[in-house]
Amino acid sequence: MPAVEDEKLLLEAKRAAGNAYAPYSGFPVGAALLGEDGTIFTGCNMENASYGLTICAERVALGKAVSEGVRRFRALAVWAPVASWPCGACLQCLAEFAPGLRILRGGEDGVRESTTLAEIFPASFRLAGS
Ligand code: THU
Repeated sequence: MPAVEDEKLLLEAKRAAGNAYAPYSGFPVGAALLGEDGTIFTGCNMENASYGLTICAERVALGKAVSEGVRRFRALAVWAPVASWPCGACLQCLAEFAPGLRILRGGEDGVRESTTLAEIFPASFRLAGS
């Protein structure tokens, strides 16, 4: 059973999914990224007629946070029709700032689960020597 804070973060992700622009896939995703100071940054997927230009919900949320000067995070919640973990591209971007990030997923399918970034993406790319 998720903690109350987890439920709140999932609710924010669900709310953000309501803004998803996903006319091509029909798969609206929402993300809510909890900054170290308690600020929540949300994001939704934004598709494009040139399909490869699509941006995932998680990277929208991360970009909003970083552009506001926030680089340290406590947790990320992802909401989708079918509960999903972030894709590899998003995990790589998240690993840049928070390799041990706690990640929650929830969906219209009723699934609620948590894990850590380190657990599902243990070998992110690093430039040699960094
Ligand atoms: N999507 C996300 O927003 N986050 C992910 O981690 C994986 C997939 C979006 C991209 C696309 O708009 C739709 O889900 C179907 O792939």
